[in-house]
Amino acid sequence: MDKLLIRGGKPLKGQIPVSGAKNAALPLQAACLLTDEKLTLTNLPLLADITTMNRLLAQHGVEVHINGRDAFGSSGRSVELDANEIFNTTAPYDLVRKMRASVLVLGPLLARFGQAKVSLPGGCAIGTRPVDLHIKGLQAMGAQIDIEGGYILARAPQGGLVGAEFVFPQVSVGATENLMMAATLAKGETVLVNAAREPEIGDLARCLIAMGAEIEGIGSDRLVIKGKDRLHGATYAVLPDRIEAGTFAMAAAITGGELELLGAKLDDLKAVAKTLAAANVKVSETANGLLVSATAGELVGVDVMTEPFPGFPTDLQAQMMALMCVAKGASMITETIFENRFMHVPELARMGANITVHGSSALVRGVPRLTGAPVMATDLRASVSLVLAGLAAQGETVVNRIYHLDRGYERIEHKLAACGADMERVKEAD
Ligand code: EPZ
Repeated sequence: MDKLLIRGGKPLKGQIPVSGAKNAALPLQAACLLTDEKLTLTNLPLLADITTMNRLLAQHGVEVHINGRDAFGSSGRSVELDANEIFNTTAPYDLVRKMRASVLVLGPLLARFGQAKVSLPGGCAIGTRPVDLHIKGLQAMGAQIDIEGGYILARAPQGGLVGAEFVFPQVSVGATENLMMAATLAKGETVLVNAAREPEIGDLARCLIAMGAEIEGIGSDRLVIKGKDRLHGATYAVLPDRIEAGTFAMAAAITGGELELLGAKLDDLKAVAKTLAAANVKVSETANGLLVSATAGELVGVDVMTEPFPGFPTDLQAQMMALMCVAKGASMITETIFENRFMHVPELARMGANITVHGSSALVRGVPRLTGAPVMATDLRASVSLVLAGLAAQGETVVNRIYHLDRGYERIEHKLAACGADMERVKEAD
């Protein structure tokens, strides 16, 4: 298993290109199942999760053509997905358990083929993460759903899914995406109330519109979708990854450096920019993205609460906590989205951080410096928070189990090293 070796204490300076967003790309890939014509996606990030989704689609019968292989030899920047001949509407346990976003094939398969069998994803490191809202929403559209042997067995009524109004009792990104995709091929109008407003939802909606769907309310919490008999092919570019951009913004801040994040959009990071400004980190727009700069020793503690968009994202909570570990004063960080998203706390503590957890809040008392240590984490964002801590720490940090990082950060060690980070990947036989 690969490790990252980081020798901390170097301020980062330079430019980092922001990759396409993983969490936008995954639903966009699943959307290919809605049409018998070709969907071409560009600006895809080179990540393990993208490959897993391609593998899942291929076993349904999707022809997957990857273009633009780069020097690193992993999957490409652009992919053509042709779901003309689907021969299997089952998403098996082995693939779904590897990646929860696999459940996003449920809505499209059910809407186009009238049936789908998708493994229940089960819990994961950050929480129990049920999929009851995906199921209830599809039931509201007339689907009959049974749970059998760990699988969701879904059937549409004769004549297909029927548009409905569905009020989300709680905001869910994935359920909004699944229902929006299903609704594009349902009979009549679907209204999704209290829908998620994350930029990735808007990206999916815009791609579906390019495929012939009719969707109103993008960016609001009320989406109105008028069903069509069929959708057609399209070419669509994945939006830049706001979470990757936010992570690098915090890397600039924690090292007292200055980074220009090429392609980053302020509109997608307003709550983060506001929080960073309160912590004494400058964030400004440039012609090509965002410029983030901080002066060593001037960081101050701020309170943060995670919320659905446009609030502060849960996917940047661990990184913000790493930053607060070395700020002056105290910071209260409250996680409201997932019940178990503080796994980075004991590892940060091993690097000298002073953090006390009370239920869903963590009180971080800033320390003058962290010290390098061997660390590991069991999810993506927790892992990257340890990378940030390592960049600021005195001495050497070894981040173990970095396959989590590879699920969500494209060549992170290259991007950071190009800006002065002293870090390298150490390959180890499994
Ligand atoms: C998406 O997960 C992201 N994943 C997550 O990114 C992100 O943390 C999360 O949204 C919140 O922003 C992808 O987009 C692929 P939710 P998702 O449904 O859709 C509860 C990362 O690090 N809930 O919005 O699974 C759920 O348990 C990741 O890149 C139900 O109760 O998240 C959670 O508490 C991890 N029933 C809350 O809602 C349901 O049916 C929000 O979950 C669905 C969700």
